[in-house]
Amino acid sequence: MANNIVGILLAGGRGTRLYPLTKNTSKQLLSIYNKPLIYYPLSTLMLAGIRKILIISTKEDINNYKSLLGDGSQYNCDFHYKVQEKPDGIGSAFILGEKFIGKDNVFLILGDNIFHGDDFIKILRESINNFKSNTIFGYYVQNPNEYGVIQFENNEIVDIVEKPLNYVSNYAVPGIYLYDSSVINIAKSIGFSSRGEREITDINKYYLSQKKLNYKLLSRGISWLDTGTFQNMNIASNYVMTLEERQGLMIGAIEEIAFRMNFIKKNEYIKIIDEMPNCDYKNKLLTSIDN
Ligand code: TTP
Repeated sequence: MANNIVGILLAGGRGTRLYPLTKNTSKQLLSIYNKPLIYYPLSTLMLAGIRKILIISTKEDINNYKSLLGDGSQYNCDFHYKVQEKPDGIGSAFILGEKFIGKDNVFLILGDNIFHGDDFIKILRESINNFKSNTIFGYYVQNPNEYGVIQFENNEIVDIVEKPLNYVSNYAVPGIYLYDSSVINIAKSIGFSSRGEREITDINKYYLSQKKLNYKLLSRGISWLDTGTFQNMNIASNYVMTLEERQGLMIGAIEEIAFRMNFIKKNEYIKIIDEMPNCDYKNKLLTSIDN
């Protein structure tokens, strides 16, 4: 039988590029159109069928996430929380989550990454349900020099190059990663880079050296938006607004996703909506009940 899957949502970091917005709040609490940024990666996990989720943030911000999202029981999910004392790397998430992960497989998503597109969820579910090996994803971008980039030879990964100065490929590695529980020990063993972080790329390179790293390409119909800068926050907000105002249906509404995924029943969904103040968000959820 396949191992269970748990999710980690990494919502700490410094958010320096968004200063002063992030002077006294966390990046993932900022708004992307009509909801907090964290709703989008959280909805990705829920759409992938993951209900047991560890949310990691700073000690200053963790209570804000708790009051926003609770223990998940209202969505028939199970949310846990953990403080990352200092932003010492994405790889540290697996050490912080050691007990939480146990022997399960783990899917990590960065709290400032937004994905959208039908095929995306299909690809995720397939990778999770037919877990064969640790998996990273590749997404075609026109500015690969800003990301970790996959180098291929005969359709096999041969390297992952961080912010390459010379052309490697157009396939950037977005902020979603799927591993078995061996990642806990690998994260411990890689140590810190020169910038003082446990680098996710070092974990991936280790698996690559052991021939235990798989990849899936995300097709061009899928949107990947990362929201680390003012410009990108604006682009993401406009993207969400364009689709939502065209259709009247929402992207990343966690209450609706809990309902559509059959985590909660219709009467439970209606109760959640009833408790909201009158607002556009509530009206859109109301529309979704029978659509
Ligand atoms: P980054 O965007 O690389 O870093 P940041 O959020 O601190 O922003 P800036 O570069 O403007 O200072 O982080 C990517 C995501 O990972 C983001 O959601 C924050 C999260 N993160 C942590 O939670 N802990 C960490 O130690 C790191 C490095 C990132």
